[in-house]
Amino acid sequence: MSLESLLNDSRQKFEDELAEFLRIPSVSARSEHKEDMARCADWVRDKLREQGMEAEVIPTRGHPIVYGELSEAGPDAPTVLVYGHYDVQPVEPLDEWETPPFEPSVRDGRMYARGTADDKGQVHVHMKAVEAYREAKGALPVNVKFLFEGEEEVGSVNLEAFIKSNVARLACDAAVISDTPMLSPEHPSICVGLRGMVYMEVRLKGPSQDLHSGQYGGGVVNPANALAKVISRLKDDNGRITIPGFYADVKALSEIERKSLAEVPLTEEEFRQEAGVSALGGGEAGVHFIERIWRRPTLDVNGLLSGYTGEGAKTIIPAKALAKISMRLVPDQDPKAIRAAFESYVRSLKPEGVEMEVMMHSDGLPWAADPEGPLFRAAATAINAAFGSDPLFISEGGSIPIVPMIEQILDTPVLLLGFALPGCNLHSPNEWLSLDLYHKGIETMTRLYDEIAREFAG
Ligand code: BES
Ligand code: MN
Ligand code: MN
Repeated sequence: MSLESLLNDSRQKFEDELAEFLRIPSVSARSEHKEDMARCADWVRDKLREQGMEAEVIPTRGHPIVYGELSEAGPDAPTVLVYGHYDVQPVEPLDEWETPPFEPSVRDGRMYARGTADDKGQVHVHMKAVEAYREAKGALPVNVKFLFEGEEEVGSVNLEAFIKSNVARLACDAAVISDTPMLSPEHPSICVGLRGMVYMEVRLKGPSQDLHSGQYGGGVVNPANALAKVISRLKDDNGRITIPGFYADVKALSEIERKSLAEVPLTEEEFRQEAGVSALGGGEAGVHFIERIWRRPTLDVNGLLSGYTGEGAKTIIPAKALAKISMRLVPDQDPKAIRAAFESYVRSLKPEGVEMEVMMHSDGLPWAADPEGPLFRAAATAINAAFGSDPLFISEGGSIPIVPMIEQILDTPVLLLGFALPGCNLHSPNEWLSLDLYHKGIETMTRLYDEIAREFAG
């Protein structure tokens, strides 16, 4: 059977299997899902084995890595490393899901479930591409190595050490990752830039326990007020971050880059509607919105907690307050330097009468690809064959900290070719993946193997 008809005939089977994958609640952040994580890793390993790959589950200090290999193309053929993550984000708020997060449901050509887009659905694209290619054509024209981790959503804390101690095992000519959106269904996209990140937490401690706000109000510093004031001093009225030295290493955009940002086929109005807000904001005044979301650094409160938030009113001075604050970084900002600058500035804003604790959760480098050479030529040809149009080069404001590490440690070019869409509710309720793009993704990957084999030959 031709690969084309095989892909066509397998659509339902693939979707059913994807649903099985999605039913495993692989939430890496929650200890109550530790067993589910292990079960999910085993599931992936078993599927890889069933489709003829060598595969194993490798324990780490946290959640396991699934590693698979297929080297039937032989030593003269190029080797492609595929990275992805089988862990997903927590599902709260649960009552905002139209169908339960771990009961996949198809509506209007979309599959809804936690992990459809980020990233189990896209991991499955790669699994099924290898399976289908081999079933139709016997053997892959490239060697493949699959590296699927279970800790991406909690900062890939154990992956760097694994890569560093397995450089020979992971050696490859190209890395391919599907963990990003396309700009729109009509615009297959190659992502050539990601922001880095520093994720901090600030805690303030005031009185040793909550106090009656009538008896003590006006007499002691309120940690919630104090924290709000600290936060309000991190950005000025023009949206610029006020941490001294914060922008020092931000690389200026070239004229060509600035021009190409302005030509991105996405309007402010489309972006506003997709975000579901009444007006855009939150960035630096006077900067184009695409530049703000892709190429400018940010500082955002991701979580804020203090005092009484239950039903009705309760008059207290809370004993403590905490904020989770992340900064997205762009080339050539250094997460270590930004962390230090944040910490000393925030400490300088602390009033007397409260104690402050500042800690870091995770950090990661920003990344920009050099989109030239055989891998990007191969991708353009494959995309064209599957979608009938040229790829668009986009950047993303999100972060995949392992990308620059793979590039540096393994000395390989990285192709970010993803099939999610803007508005597909990554990390939110009702996450979905377009089934059309899921199948197009599988087709694109089968074509990519041929093109990589051709481009890297000899
Ligand atoms: N797949 C995303 C990264 C992403 C999101 C890229 C949107 C492009 C557009 C990834 O799973 C993710 O969520 N990364 C985290 C990194 C963090 C946990 C260190 C992020 O960006 O918040
Ligand atoms: Mn992801
Ligand atoms: Mn994610």
